[in-house]
Amino acid sequence: MTEAASRNLRLEQDGNLAVLTLNRPDKLNALSFELLGEISAALDQAASWPVRALLVTGAGDKAFCAGADIEELRNRTLSDQKRRAEFGQAVFAKLDDLPVPSVALINGYAFGGGLEFAMACTFRIAIAGAKMGLPEIKLGLIPGYGGTQRLPRLIGQARALELVMTGRTVTAAEALAIGLVNRVTEGNLLEAGRAFAAEFTGFGLPALSFARAAVSRALDLPLHDGLKVEADLSTLAYRTQDAEEGMAAFAQKRKPEFRDA
Ligand code: COA
Repeated sequence: MTEAASRNLRLEQDGNLAVLTLNRPDKLNALSFELLGEISAALDQAASWPVRALLVTGAGDKAFCAGADIEELRNRTLSDQKRRAEFGQAVFAKLDDLPVPSVALINGYAFGGGLEFAMACTFRIAIAGAKMGLPEIKLGLIPGYGGTQRLPRLIGQARALELVMTGRTVTAAEALAIGLVNRVTEGNLLEAGRAFAAEFTGFGLPALSFARAAVSRALDLPLHDGLKVEADLSTLAYRTQDAEEGMAAFAQKRKPEFRDA
């Protein structure tokens, strides 16, 4: 088993999955600058592991992550604050470049930067008692680690504005209804994460990457340009050995054996 641990997180290999656990439960896994740095290093490390998905969760039974560490937020210069926001954004953006999809397992509170981390993952699964929100406005702030940009892409502008401007808390049931999470589970969250990941980990990584890239561009580009990206990426997918294998397996009525090639 491949493992790595730093002061505030654990990174483990669990079969064909990497599992990153934020591990500061006494502070509800709040994102200190140290923890953000550790997440950055852990994502680099996970990118080099022979896994097919990354699961991200929080230690303890209360919180996925209660957001930026409020104790560290005060008395900063504006340039320091901007640098920190850009660093947090860059760390979470690493999830987009990860060779494998990521799933946030929201095991309790996911507030502020915690929800921003979860939103940067490819997918989200929450326990039924999870609570989520972007409460920065209550501190006189607004989200700075990608929340104002990713939330409208996930749930639409009107709902995003409401959540950012009221700072109100969303239950897991509402999060599911508005598309903020993909699944809610009453059972064991890690098991639910493994089962969810198993729905796509058998497919070839090239096609999965092209799919992630094409869909993520959909909300950035005018339709005309997005369709061009889709034409290019679907043609690239067509050129893979996996596509040849997939179509041959269909014709031969057998299960395909994808080789990530
Ligand atoms: N930064 C730093 N410490 C935090 C934190 C944060 N974002 N969120 C929680 N903590 C700490 C608390 O200060 C407390 O530490 P202490 O025991 O040393 O006093 C510990 O975690 C437990 O939190 P507590 O508030 O006692 O738990 P709770 O169950 O009563 O409330 C929350 C949980 C999540 C509702 C509450 O902690 C909260 O509102 N946190 C801030 C959320 C937020 O605004 N995030 C965005 C920041 S920009």
